Amino acid sequence: MRKRIVAGNWKMNKTAEEALSLVSEIDNMVKDEVNGDVAVVVAPPFPFLQSLGKLTQGNDKMHLAAQNVSEHESGAYTGEVSAAMLKSVGVEYVIIGHSERRMYHHEDAQTLYQKMKTTLAHGMKPIFCCGEPLEERDADRHFDYVGKQLHDSLSYLSNEEFEQVVIAYEPIWAIGTGRTASSQQAQEMHEYIREQIARMFDAEAAYNTSILYGGSCNPANAQELFSQSDVDGGLIGGASLKSRDFTDVIKSI
Ligand code: PGA
Repeated sequence: MRKRIVAGNWKMNKTAEEALSLVSEIDNMVKDEVNGDVAVVVAPPFPFLQSLGKLTQGNDKMHLAAQNVSEHESGAYTGEVSAAMLKSVGVEYVIIGHSERRMYHHEDAQTLYQKMKTTLAHGMKPIFCCGEPLEERDADRHFDYVGKQLHDSLSYLSNEEFEQVVIAYEPIWAIGTGRTASSQQAQEMHEYIREQIARMFDAEAAYNTSILYGGSCNPANAQELFSQSDVDGGLIGGASLKSRDFTDVIKSI
């Protein structure tokens, strides 16, 4: 059975001290209240991964994610962070292809494919993000747009590699805007993504892949979104920065 996952993407927020207290608060709240088959994932900025890795290592409910990884293994790439480095400090998941990285850092399908490969080669799980901009939805091309994102970066993976992949559907018009996809819009896109996985890999892979929804998901709308049959959890931005909001979202699953 596929895993249910609630992941907090902190983006470029928090200081070291704030990061430690946020994770401790979340840990305290999920310890007793969240059942074992829900994975809670936190994705803080790079400088905090090592110290937070000490808190999440060996913790079967809380897991650590990075927000990005270099597509290169090592070498003269000033400012970049490799998959081996992430693995060595206890990172288990890596967010790849977030729309903010595609947009501001011009990450293309080929680069994302390489990031997937290096993440997998180092034994971590990619959280691969996809999602359409508003003009594609308004033009009724959102399914084709997301389908192409999936095919361009994932279809060259082996079935065995793909088993480790988590997908996050994040319509760009819903990210940080307070405008959420309706549960019906989320469900129909998640169902479509599952069909594409079946075509690229097989029916078993489609059934087993966790597909998360992201985009202004918060304590008020999480339950409705998570109740959809193809929505296996969420990738949470703004609402992951306050322990109360984030744990309320987790409890909605
Ligand atoms: P948001 O961000 O919840 O603040 O909309 C989600 C994301 O970008 O992952």
